[in-house]
Amino acid sequence: MSSAAASTGRPVDGSFIRSRLGSFLAVVPLTIWTIDHLWNNLAAFKGAEAWQSQVTEYSHPIAFVASSLVALLPLALHTIWGIGRLRTSKVNIARYPYFSNLKYILQRITAVGVLFFLGAHIWLAMLQPRLVVGRPEPFADIAHEMAHHVPTLLVYTLGVLGVSYHLANGLHTFAMGWGIATSRRALRKLQAVIWVVFLGMLAMGWGSIYALYDAGSQLPATTVQQTNASR
Ligand code: HEM
Repeated sequence: MSSAAASTGRPVDGSFIRSRLGSFLAVVPLTIWTIDHLWNNLAAFKGAEAWQSQVTEYSHPIAFVASSLVALLPLALHTIWGIGRLRTSKVNIARYPYFSNLKYILQRITAVGVLFFLGAHIWLAMLQPRLVVGRPEPFADIAHEMAHHVPTLLVYTLGVLGVSYHLANGLHTFAMGWGIATSRRALRKLQAVIWVVFLGMLAMGWGSIYALYDAGSQLPATTVQQTNASR
């Protein structure tokens, strides 16, 4: 891959449609779903009932299945696409020490981090409570973990940082790849928008973590929740 291709993140060969599909699914609906999910989690500031109703409750079981498919199916397809891109990535920052090259590398490092974070998050917060315990993750459980289990707090803090960077910088490469921003002026404006998206997502994600931590620190550290017992 040439350095220009490396810095734009565009493929040099491979199926055009496959490449466009992986890129498209990352933005619609995955990006929209992720931003909506972070926004809903801010309900943690309003307490257990508000968080539970915004994040874990659905009007109908079919609504839950549909929402999960809208998020998980594109995520699975984008992940397969992304792993393919990781395998063909060329790191040449030592020879070309440019900011765009650093962003290219960070996009790939965060991809791997996000993969592990989402694997743990989807299993522990979604599938395990529902499929093993038989009910959605309770507010008290996740708040308790956030306040009294340092690895959980660390993983969520770094996970939100990785997702925010990966998604915001991904929107940048998406806009370049699809020809939405091409001129120097458009790219400068786009970079400013990307900073707003990155910082906005970080504020929502870290804000929610803080609210959960705050609620959890009011619970006794020794409380052993039902879910924790099975973790
Ligand atoms: C919340 C989950 C995720 C979101 C919202 C997301 C979003 C995005 C977006 C918007 C792009 C830019 C697409 C483009 O340039 O056209 C991208 C690129 C990329 N994603 Fe993801 N992604 C997520 C998870 C993952 C995972 C789990 C992997 C797996 C390893 C991954 C691997 C990649 C790679 C390697 C690229 C760079 C592709 C390139 O520039 O050639 N992503 N992602």
